[in-house]
Amino acid sequence: MAETGKGASMNDITIRPLVWRDLDAIVKIDQKVTGKQRDVFWQNKITSYSGLDPGACLVAELDGEVVGFMFGERKYFEYGAPQSGWIEIIGIRPDLQHKGIGRLLAEALLGHFRRSHIGAVQTMVNPEDKNIMAFFEAMGFERGPLVNMQRKL
Ligand SMILES: CC(C)(COP(=O)(O)OP(=O)(O)OC[C@H]1O[C@@H](n2cnc3c(N)ncnc32)[C@H](O)[C@@H]1OP(=O)(O)O)[C@@H](O)C(=O)NCCC(=O)NCCS
Repeated sequence: MAETGKGASMNDITIRPLVWRDLDAIVKIDQKVTGKQRDVFWQNKITSYSGLDPGACLVAELDGEVVGFMFGERKYFEYGAPQSGWIEIIGIRPDLQHKGIGRLLAEALLGHFRRSHIGAVQTMVNPEDKNIMAFFEAMGFERGPLVNMQRKL
């Protein structure tokens, strides 16, 4: 089992549903990852995602502290595809990345979608972002059938 520091291990990580009081911890993790303080952004994200599918919004806790989060949702027939689970947002506290927390969150979310009888899970990834590509590949994801289209204005 990977060590998380202070003698703790992955066995000490708890995955549980997101609750409103997690807002501050999520803002702090995002601040560490992106360097941006985005309280209103996260208030809006938590409001919208927890309203869509509360069981698909998960946090990872270590010693009572939130150290990672993953938000997903179900989409029904968007893009002509059958109902799918989507992984939309993920963040892990930088000093605890690459220790298995993302995998625990993803497995818990995949389990939630599986129990909801959803046959496929999708996500959108920038192929230039090698870290996130490597993470999803390690989680068994492969290129799907959808293509992103855009037009400059
Ligand atoms: C990318 C990220 C979500 C992965 O979470 P994590 O907790 O560090 O990942 P884990 O340690 O659980 O790794 C799970 C698997 O992915 C692989 N993996 C993760 N990051 C990797 C990388 N940069 N290169 C190669 N493999 C990687 C691991 O090797 C592991 O594979 P294994 O279980 O078969 O050994 C996390 O590092 C992160 O938050 N990064 C910065 C923020 C970010 O990119 N957010 C996404 C914006 S939407």
